Amino acid sequence: MSLTVLFAARNDDWHTYHEALEQAFAAAELDADLVTTADPEEVDYIVYSPSSSLQDFTPYTKLKAVLSLWAGVERIVSNPTLTMPLVRMVDPGMTQSMVEWVTGHVMRYHLGMDDHIVNPGHAWRPKAAPLARQRSVCILGLGALGRSAALTLKALNFNVTGWSRSPKEIKDIETFHGPEGLTGALRHAEIVVLLMPDTPQTENTLNKETLALLPKGARILNPGRGPLIDDYALLDALDSGQIAHATLDVFRVEPLPPDHPYWAHPKVTVTPHIAAATQAATASVEIANNIRRGEAGEALLNLVDRSQGY
Ligand code: GLV
Repeated sequence: MSLTVLFAARNDDWHTYHEALEQAFAAAELDADLVTTADPEEVDYIVYSPSSSLQDFTPYTKLKAVLSLWAGVERIVSNPTLTMPLVRMVDPGMTQSMVEWVTGHVMRYHLGMDDHIVNPGHAWRPKAAPLARQRSVCILGLGALGRSAALTLKALNFNVTGWSRSPKEIKDIETFHGPEGLTGALRHAEIVVLLMPDTPQTENTLNKETLALLPKGARILNPGRGPLIDDYALLDALDSGQIAHATLDVFRVEPLPPDHPYWAHPKVTVTPHIAAATQAATASVEIANNIRRGEAGEALLNLVDRSQGY
């Protein structure tokens, strides 16, 4: 009997994913009906975005798993009706996109591009950038995204360190972990990249105290999640010169409200949550592979650990 896979996201997402999912299901030899409406009692799997109108999973009595289209699951884990296995998105296309965004913005800071691109007074500032190996970059969060960003920056010769909740090993990269490891990770970091999940434990990881640990004039990139930073502590640190600049892609409230101080701050670049979108073609392959695994009795990949919140 064929499987029923319900696609529960926005209409726009259906246009983006429909064909890619059908192709991926065919390639995985899955006998599955991909639908946007179904009798809840018939649904085997749900491909899900939190912006879907589906919020009550109670009627889905035979549901085997929910597969999120998003990497960040903070809006889903807290749904008390969602008791089935939950898979977060780990998509090589999204990872590549994140690596490109992070590398581009690290390069902007490293090379001091703004001095020359924005130079209304035509100042002659012949100060060359140091080599990448003389520049320390710290990646906070060493999941699929952080790890790939760290490896790419290392391949460009940056002096990369990483920090994560639990110990992680990455070849040739010095790593720190746990609350006590954060000081060591931040102490020399000239550029900090936040790529952790949004959980109660990670909220305000960058706050008044931790921002003060950084070398004066450090730069911050946040393509992770807004709550990782205490916004008012960051604004104070920008005003005092402790932090020279921040490029922020994610915010506590999105779209960022027009009167938010970040918009007008001369030391902040706002990008509108564009660092890394899920890529339909590659993500669909991951979804199909996971459903195939579920049907073959194999463990699902990238299952959310509810006790950790990601
Ligand atoms: C995007 O922010 C995601 O969580 O996939």
